[in-house]
Amino acid sequence: MQFAVIGNPIEHSLSPEIHLAFAMQVGLELTYDRILAPPDDFQTMARNFFSGSGTGLNVTAPFKHDAYEFVDEKDQASIAASAVNTIHAVGDVFLGYNTDGIGLVADLSRLRWPLKQAKILVIGAGGAAQGIVLPLLEHGAEITLANRTRSRAEALKKQFPKIDVLDLEELKQGWDIVINATAAGWQQEQLPVPSATFEDARCYDLGYQRDGRTPFIQQVEAYADETSDGLGMLVEQAAEAFQIWHDIKPQTSPVLNGLRNPKRQFIAGAVCPRCNQQDTIYVERDLLGNVTLRACSACNYVEDVDGNVSVDLL
Ligand code: ATR
Repeated sequence: MQFAVIGNPIEHSLSPEIHLAFAMQVGLELTYDRILAPPDDFQTMARNFFSGSGTGLNVTAPFKHDAYEFVDEKDQASIAASAVNTIHAVGDVFLGYNTDGIGLVADLSRLRWPLKQAKILVIGAGGAAQGIVLPLLEHGAEITLANRTRSRAEALKKQFPKIDVLDLEELKQGWDIVINATAAGWQQEQLPVPSATFEDARCYDLGYQRDGRTPFIQQVEAYADETSDGLGMLVEQAAEAFQIWHDIKPQTSPVLNGLRNPKRQFIAGAVCPRCNQQDTIYVERDLLGNVTLRACSACNYVEDVDGNVSVDLL
């Protein structure tokens, strides 16, 4: 069985590691690759994948809308989001799903951040924001949207009349949950939002990184009640996709814990090339046992090794 994630860029996607870890957990044998597609050629790449032995495809930026147009049938979540992140080829038919929203709801439940009647501020009005509005509304949240370009927020209000719209500059304190659905952090930019907005709120970033300290989390942590990046959502949306394809729901917490806390293994006798100390060099392994980095516990020497340890340095 062949699966893959398609996007651009794609080399740092954690989806292969997550899906292969799920597969090991439930005893399934499958391959899961990364496909880099040219920005204007999703269709060809997707067709090539499925005309080979591809069964299921995860879709990430910037192709979720292309995937929406590619599939033959769509679930309610993908229609609300105008985006598909999971494709399942069943016979000659391509079925499209969007598991992002349900992944977010599952992660907020793991965090024990209640949604019923929660006052939620969503910052951003692009594809990421559109994908989470319906599931949050369905779980009883009251949503306000604020976006740098107000007209995009107003457009989402047309689709979801229940939501309120505010400008970024006029935001104040008083939210139960604040969700960052902007791309500001990717561009290493701070959100132009008054800090009081985050005061005593639970702040969630749809963006993620292994150590959890995304630019948004760093911007809000002095004010927020609690914070979380979106690594848990990534794992939960993957589990939903896994269930669609394999009809088995994998356990998510061991995989999330493994992503957050990679296994360290000290290399006996190794000498650090920077500080020259012995027995301080360790490697970290991902969930599949592949070495991902080599570092020194005594100085700040860290080296990405993309799975290959250069033995002569050890
Ligand atoms: P995605 O599919 O990831 O949501 P998108 O549709 O390009 O990507 O939307 C990006 C979102 O991040 C938008 O809400 C964008 O605001 P604009 O609609 O005004 O462009 C927001 N965004 C990006 N950079 C930002 C920044 N520096 N400050 C505030 N918002 C920003």
